[in-house]
Amino acid sequence: MTAGRLVFSGFDPADEGRREALCTLGNGYFATRGAAPESTADGVHYPGTYVAGCFNRLTSEVAGHRFEDESIVNAPNWLPLTFRVDDGPWFTLQEVELLEAEQELDPLRGVLVRRLRFRDQHGRTTRLVQHRLVHLGHAHLACLDTTLQVEDWSGTLTVRSGLDGDVANTGVARYRALAAHHLVDHHVAEASPEVAVLDAQTSQSRVRIAVAQRTRLLVDREHRQVPTSHLGEKRVDHAFTTDVIPGAQVRVEKTTSLHTSRDPASSEPVSEAVDSAGDAPGFDELCRSQTVAWGRLHRHFTTTTGLDEPARRSLLLHRFHLLQTAAPNITDLDVGLPARGLHGEAYRGHVFWDELFVLPVLDLRMPQLSRALLNYRYRRLPRARRAARQAGLAGAMFPWQSGSNGREESQSWHLNPRSGRWLPDHTYLQRHVGLAVAHSARHHHLATGDDDYLSDQGAELICEIARFFSSLATYDRGTDRYVIRGVVGPDEYHTAYPGRDEPGIDNNAYTNVMTAWLCATATQVLRELPALRRRELVDQLDLRHHEVDRWDQLAHRVFVPFHGPGLLSQFEGYHELAELDWESYLRRYGTIQRLDRILEAEGDDPNRYQVSKQADVLMLFYLLTAEELEEILGRLGYPTPDIPANVEHYLARTSHGSTLSAVVHAWVLARGHRPRALEFFDDTLVSDLHDTQHGTTAEGVHLAAMTGTLDLVQRCFTGIEVRPDGLHLNPLWPTGLGPLDLTLRYRGVPLDVRVSGRTVAVRTAPGPPTPTITCVCGPHHAHLRPGETARFSMDATAAGGATDEPL
Ligand code: BGC
Repeated sequence: MTAGRLVFSGFDPADEGRREALCTLGNGYFATRGAAPESTADGVHYPGTYVAGCFNRLTSEVAGHRFEDESIVNAPNWLPLTFRVDDGPWFTLQEVELLEAEQELDPLRGVLVRRLRFRDQHGRTTRLVQHRLVHLGHAHLACLDTTLQVEDWSGTLTVRSGLDGDVANTGVARYRALAAHHLVDHHVAEASPEVAVLDAQTSQSRVRIAVAQRTRLLVDREHRQVPTSHLGEKRVDHAFTTDVIPGAQVRVEKTTSLHTSRDPASSEPVSEAVDSAGDAPGFDELCRSQTVAWGRLHRHFTTTTGLDEPARRSLLLHRFHLLQTAAPNITDLDVGLPARGLHGEAYRGHVFWDELFVLPVLDLRMPQLSRALLNYRYRRLPRARRAARQAGLAGAMFPWQSGSNGREESQSWHLNPRSGRWLPDHTYLQRHVGLAVAHSARHHHLATGDDDYLSDQGAELICEIARFFSSLATYDRGTDRYVIRGVVGPDEYHTAYPGRDEPGIDNNAYTNVMTAWLCATATQVLRELPALRRRELVDQLDLRHHEVDRWDQLAHRVFVPFHGPGLLSQFEGYHELAELDWESYLRRYGTIQRLDRILEAEGDDPNRYQVSKQADVLMLFYLLTAEELEEILGRLGYPTPDIPANVEHYLARTSHGSTLSAVVHAWVLARGHRPRALEFFDDTLVSDLHDTQHGTTAEGVHLAAMTGTLDLVQRCFTGIEVRPDGLHLNPLWPTGLGPLDLTLRYRGVPLDVRVSGRTVAVRTAPGPPTPTITCVCGPHHAHLRPGETARFSMDATAAGGATDEPL
């Protein structure tokens, strides 16, 4: 990487999938992998295009089981562009000798550039420069600008540019036994001499997707050649033929527009696509406005650190991929946060609890984006209520994997690629996803101070989720405590007790402690509502006194398993499971992140061992501060956990089979063991860049881990917490790294924050009167009006109050 750019040299077929995922371009509405335009899905290349929120369901029959599953749809491919000399073969990378090859992603502008110099079988040398963008400001537009430069030959050059609707979801090898053809009912048409259009419909959800292309061969500034069109059944092509001599330069501009029948402000997608492709500005103009749009968006996320160049570039890349998925365009859409971005087909584009790692970053930068993602959950509240009812429970049960309408989309069977066996999948029992939704809603309210959000949506979400967990908990006479049985915690290796038929484990510490947090939060939130709204909500939800009393009891009497002084048990019975001989597995397999697959392939079962896929108990220290945890456990009558002892205990038993694990470990180690925290931070900085989960990046980036690195800088090293009494700060930034500067937005007020070592300065933007901001650091606090600065030091006793000095 150089100057913020991600550069790939040469062409490595084995690594092409990773490069394509990392070079994906998107704008929140749709995204396209960085595949070579002349390529097809051939095992090396995978030119996927995904429209946010566009799902389809298909039924498959695998290993004697018939099931329906929902996937994000691989939309018609708008990329195809290739060329040939005379009647020779069409250009592909595999057919030529590559003399130079480089691809460069510019995350500051959202532009991907490919430069090739190659020699064909007849010894003809040609240069190719291709620029690509998916426009951030014009949500439907993408452009591919290709220049071919002839070096040492003469002949007839034919360029072919097309739209390909003959695509399927075949991007993930593990899913290849599943039905994959989502598009039916294709049509192609020539709309004008320069514009052609292809449309198709998803087979079950009946979303019509239309892609139009305008292709121009730019002869010089004034002249352009009109293409000839070839209409196929599921494909349409434009072609140009031109005679060239050495030194000739041929430039082809392909502008495409993608619309669907779900778009706002739309009549029907075919005419919309034709109109916008036909009216679109040329590449140079699009590139200019793209640069402006990305510049504005990046400005909201300004972060300056003295970290080394590679770390800063990774942070920029992570921000870029986050903002390509959660771009401002999503505020007009109904989309959730797909765990793997719009970058590939892993997890079929589903939405998990991963937003828990993402929304806090957005809350303090562009809260309208986190609000849009929370709206996705709120709109699916009726489904979640239905799911709870069907399970014989109350309130709202959010699905572990969510897609179009909020139905549970977790797979019931999954393939272990190591053993080749299809196995029942009980990870859907991760009821804790609802706790994440409630936590995100609460954080959003505290960070934005948006009381209307709390009144209109947040309180309802939180109360309905509290209702659900309250009905999930049962009273256990023996312990005089409330217990939660038959769930799965964040660690997906434990889905049942060895030898027990029914799935699920009992009293997952994370789920139970967060239930106590939720119940206390729900009653608190009710108290915070204005009296009239509280009465309305109580009527609307038919919330009874005894229910709220029960929340209070749960906040005081939930059972939490411990198995040593201050040592939390991941779940009841975890510490009685066998210990794994980690050394021997490491020796035999080298990489043991996916121990579950290794053990199953050996005929064994991870449920038998004290092994965790990812942080589970430690999630508590990630989400809650030591004081919050002490308060929750104190109310429950439990001792304060020994955080370092818990971290050591579980760290020794975790295989980090999820990229989320390193984020959480970096976070929980940051204050007690900085060098180890920085190792985990460094691991996460390269987890997709170096594909540290071995082959998974090609199937889509890990958006929560990427965002986790941004949040480590934003909230962990600054010690920022949003609490009801103000913005708390507890800086701990290595002095050697110079100052850390952030531009945040807290309760609607723009703030500049500068952290150096253990000192912090906060400055509110000057300007019209805004609410006073309260900052709290240790025992000190300051109330800031516009244009004022507060300085605090955790080292010294002195802490400045508000002044009007600059930072
Ligand atoms: C992790 C989950 C996560 C999912 C999607 C899984 O591997 O175990 O915690 O939500 O990936 O990122």
